[in-house]
Amino acid sequence: MKIFKLNLCFIFLSYFCVRAVDRANFKTCDQSGFCKQLRSMEKGNSPYKLLLNTLNIQKDSLQVDLLNNKNNVKLVLKLSGIRDNIFRLRITEKDPLKPRYEPAIGDVLDSEPKLESITVKREGQTVKVNLKNDAVVILDESPFSMQVLQSGEPVLLINSRGLLRFEHTRTKPEAEAPQGILSTVLSWFSNSPQPADDEVPVEENAENENHEKENKEEAEKKETDEEGVWEESFKGHTDSKPSGPQAIGLDFSFPGFENVYGIPEHADSFALKSTRDTDPYRLYNLDVFEYELHNPMALYGSVPLMYAHNEKRTIGLFWLNTAETWIDIGSNTADKNMLSKLATFVGVGSSDEMPQVDTHWMSESGIIDVFFLLGPKPNDAFRQYGSLTGTTPLPPLFSIAYHQCRWNYNDEEDVQTVNEGFDTHDIPMDVIWLDIEHTNGKRYFTWDGAKFSHSVDMINKVAARGRKMVTIVDPHLKRDDNYNVHSECRSKGYYIKNKDGNDYDGWCWPGSSSWPDFFKPEVREWWAGKFLTSEYVGSTHDLFTWNDMNEPSVFNGPEITMHKDAKHLDGNEHRHVHNLYGTLVHRATFEGQLKRDPNQRPFILSRAFFAGSQRYGAVWTGDNMSEWGHLKISVPMLLSHGITGISFIGADVGGFFKNPDAELLTRWYQAGAYQPFFRAHAHLDTRRREPWLFDDKYKNIIRDAIRARYALLPFWYTLFYHGEKEGGPVMKPLWVDFPKQKETFTIDDQYLIGSVLMVKPVTEQGSSGFRMFFPGDSTTEWYDIYSKQPVKTHGGYEFVSAPLEKVPVFQRGGTILPRKNRIRRASILAKDDPYTLTIALDQNGSAVGDLYIDDYMTHEYRQNKYTLRKFIYENNMLVNKNISPMSQFETKSWLEKIEILGMKSKPISVQVIGEDKSTRDLEFNFEPSKQVLTIRKPDVNIAQDWIISLRR
Ligand code: NOJ
Repeated sequence: MKIFKLNLCFIFLSYFCVRAVDRANFKTCDQSGFCKQLRSMEKGNSPYKLLLNTLNIQKDSLQVDLLNNKNNVKLVLKLSGIRDNIFRLRITEKDPLKPRYEPAIGDVLDSEPKLESITVKREGQTVKVNLKNDAVVILDESPFSMQVLQSGEPVLLINSRGLLRFEHTRTKPEAEAPQGILSTVLSWFSNSPQPADDEVPVEENAENENHEKENKEEAEKKETDEEGVWEESFKGHTDSKPSGPQAIGLDFSFPGFENVYGIPEHADSFALKSTRDTDPYRLYNLDVFEYELHNPMALYGSVPLMYAHNEKRTIGLFWLNTAETWIDIGSNTADKNMLSKLATFVGVGSSDEMPQVDTHWMSESGIIDVFFLLGPKPNDAFRQYGSLTGTTPLPPLFSIAYHQCRWNYNDEEDVQTVNEGFDTHDIPMDVIWLDIEHTNGKRYFTWDGAKFSHSVDMINKVAARGRKMVTIVDPHLKRDDNYNVHSECRSKGYYIKNKDGNDYDGWCWPGSSSWPDFFKPEVREWWAGKFLTSEYVGSTHDLFTWNDMNEPSVFNGPEITMHKDAKHLDGNEHRHVHNLYGTLVHRATFEGQLKRDPNQRPFILSRAFFAGSQRYGAVWTGDNMSEWGHLKISVPMLLSHGITGISFIGADVGGFFKNPDAELLTRWYQAGAYQPFFRAHAHLDTRRREPWLFDDKYKNIIRDAIRARYALLPFWYTLFYHGEKEGGPVMKPLWVDFPKQKETFTIDDQYLIGSVLMVKPVTEQGSSGFRMFFPGDSTTEWYDIYSKQPVKTHGGYEFVSAPLEKVPVFQRGGTILPRKNRIRRASILAKDDPYTLTIALDQNGSAVGDLYIDDYMTHEYRQNKYTLRKFIYENNMLVNKNISPMSQFETKSWLEKIEILGMKSKPISVQVIGEDKSTRDLEFNFEPSKQVLTIRKPDVNIAQDWIISLRR
């Protein structure tokens, strides 16, 4: 056994040998050839110039050539207006030797963006573009730069620091001839596109011409000769780089802003930090063992989307590039010359000192394709991003309830014991998960014959209690001729190839493995077919899926992932598409569940992600640790995911590696209960940690936390419905609702759920209270959900107590919160249960809220089988009305109780006026000291129109 473990330690380095992150496994910017080069570029020396005589103006776009004066290579710049206050900037090579990679529509962008008309005017050496909604883009000829203004104020500068770089396609030089490099260089030039005569600066004499030529040769030689340009090695792996240098880079500055956010996934603060003294933030999907906190190293997923936010506006920058990307961030003050120049140009503005965030984006290949989301409000920017890459479809109810996972539940008996354990201890639970050990030798879509020989019975037993199951299905397939999924995939030619054209072969859990090429629709279709119950023998419609290791994780690959020179079936090198691979695994699995049952909503959890992954379901933050610091970092991490579209997101409750003590586990449950995806999970080597294995004191608090989640499921479900319709996160930073309040800009240890609850999880050992920020002003009320009392605050920091049994949660005055308070084993069993409405009054004695209801699991809501109710409390009346006239849905659920918080005096009577206009007096109880009015048993159907009226 010892020998076995040692071998595993050797082969599966990351999982079986307990040690901290091995930084040496992952490149620094200095070790990544293109990052090193682009980061060291000289500022303020851009060789690019617009060739304004090529300006071509269309209704919704303009196009113009861009010349690199140093090497005469031409690019094409295209600027398009996009509907809903977005514009797009594309810069690509005019005459590439071979096409540069761009993701297909549907892979990242949900559909072709809808264009919007623009107005273009040339004014001397500049071009002025008026977009809809008060935004102006100015393009300067030479050196090329762009400025974006909103309401006359500069908000974005492009190439103002001259860091535009576009390494053009070229052929690899032959090995250097003895007589020198010059002839070789000249031969590359013969391959480079030559500018037309009228566009090249006219030289004064032959000497100058020669000099110019030498400079160009020098520039070309430098770009081509740098170490690592045609071949790059890292830790014994050699990247053959058959296409040589092809990096792109560009600088963007945000004048008037001090904070930028987004670009997950990093274990770091929510407001991004200056990278002056560190590496840039890296986006390269990697399986990082025992990741470190507070650094810009890449993790499992990436979304190249950044927001800048200040008191006036939120704007977004979406860099659509799927290759390895690094982003430098610096804080600065805006350049006075630029400000006064713009002030003259647009006739407004000032040249006062203003803060500025400078960013520099560098990708290894592809093209420059950037979308600017001009907000101006946070929710506008979120909606704009959703219109490009899609939103999270409404998840089935069970998937937003509580999930019980560990690596591994050992066999059918173990599953059954856990299933029953939750009932014995009266703890609600919806899903039991099976990790890799449930398979026959890590062959996905199979079962271990000895331990899971009656999988259908097992799933049915779990389902009989209203629950579901999930099995893991990873994308690495065991290279075993007796494994039909592998042999089919191989014989159909669906595997990604290595640089020599053979099926790519790497190590992962099953040993020698290969990876299907999910970029090809035919391969996704084939994979999707594997989820039919006829194919996935031993599965049922109550079984859902977990896609793990889909970065992809390759234990013996460079940086524990796939070689960049591996080849996809369309001939593209893996380097161009790396960050998108995991999303397409997720997508194919999603399509598989739809194939199995088109009317059932899929549920799939994925570890790797990219922009657009939100369309396929949930994501989690990978292998965290049972440490307080990891609990704490989960909040900023989830916030970063949420604002970049990945809104169905969670962290392993309890921490994956190591054993949490009872206090940490309890606090983690309390945090997870108020986060979008709520799943406990643990490493194979950890001690069992089902809640009942802890002392009653802790078990009871964990049970309360889970029950609190279940009580609030109607609220979470309604938020996810809005998420599908409008985009945007369900778990939000405070500044989304308090965009002008500067103090909120750097708060990342508390957050909002919808616009109703504010939560600050306890993330310090031994804490029994702390100061918490209450945004708003003296007119904003926040009610403690436990005491139902308003917090005495005029907006600002107040002390809140947080004994072990309490996680500080506050309801905002002016909101109405729906709950279901009956305790059930699983969420669906509460389907017809009655509701309680908690009305938290604002200072005018009013409140609003809403509630969405449907069948909780099918797609029939898309055929209008749902109801969306709006509750309005004002002038002593609660009105329930249908705000989706086209929809229809009946429910047995009725209204059991209403609590009104902040009620100043006792009413004389309370009456309900039903849909048929009949009236009935209701019982109520008023607690003057608490100012809480409780109305009992209104006994009206929640999906009907009615009024509850208080007489004074
Ligand atoms: C890595 C995942 O991050 C973890 O959650 C899982 O338990 C192991 N792989 C084994 O499948």
